[in-house]
Amino acid sequence: MEMIEWTHSLELGIDVIDHQHHQIVDYINSLTVAIEKQDEHLVFAVLEKLRSYTVDHFVFEEELMLKAGYCEYGSHSQLHRRFEHKVSAMLNDYVSGSDPFGIARKARNFLHIWLIEHIRHEDKEYAVAVMKIMHRQQGWIDTTLRRIFGQPKGAGDYQNNQA
Ligand SMILES: [Fe+2]
Repeated sequence: MEMIEWTHSLELGIDVIDHQHHQIVDYINSLTVAIEKQDEHLVFAVLEKLRSYTVDHFVFEEELMLKAGYCEYGSHSQLHRRFEHKVSAMLNDYVSGSDPFGIARKARNFLHIWLIEHIRHEDKEYAVAVMKIMHRQQGWIDTTLRRIFGQPKGAGDYQNNQA
């Protein structure tokens, strides 16, 4: 299965968001590795981690859009909710599926396509509005990141969280 390569074309130019998107890409690649290893426990652990990190990322992104007064906030948030429902449904299918690796592969392909398309289109559209407020909102950004992710920069290294 193909690994996703992180390239400049996926960057919005907003460091904190680019870092989170890169982290999600790393999780999708970890999922690919887990599927190739045929390690069912690891597949489930990565899927769960991917879901919870992505939900936190969406919360942060939406708060940032609100702070910036971004006019498409409502429709963008709706896309996030639909994505969350889809991922929850896939996790349920995975738990009850007779072919867990087949379902995991489908989930992985969906995540890959959805994320890349979402970054390239909808996320790029909010970048201009958000970039205008970034320089005067560093304090708010640090506090919000700590509240949502429990640590600065929205970091969440999968390996470090496995202890
Ligand atoms: Fe988004």
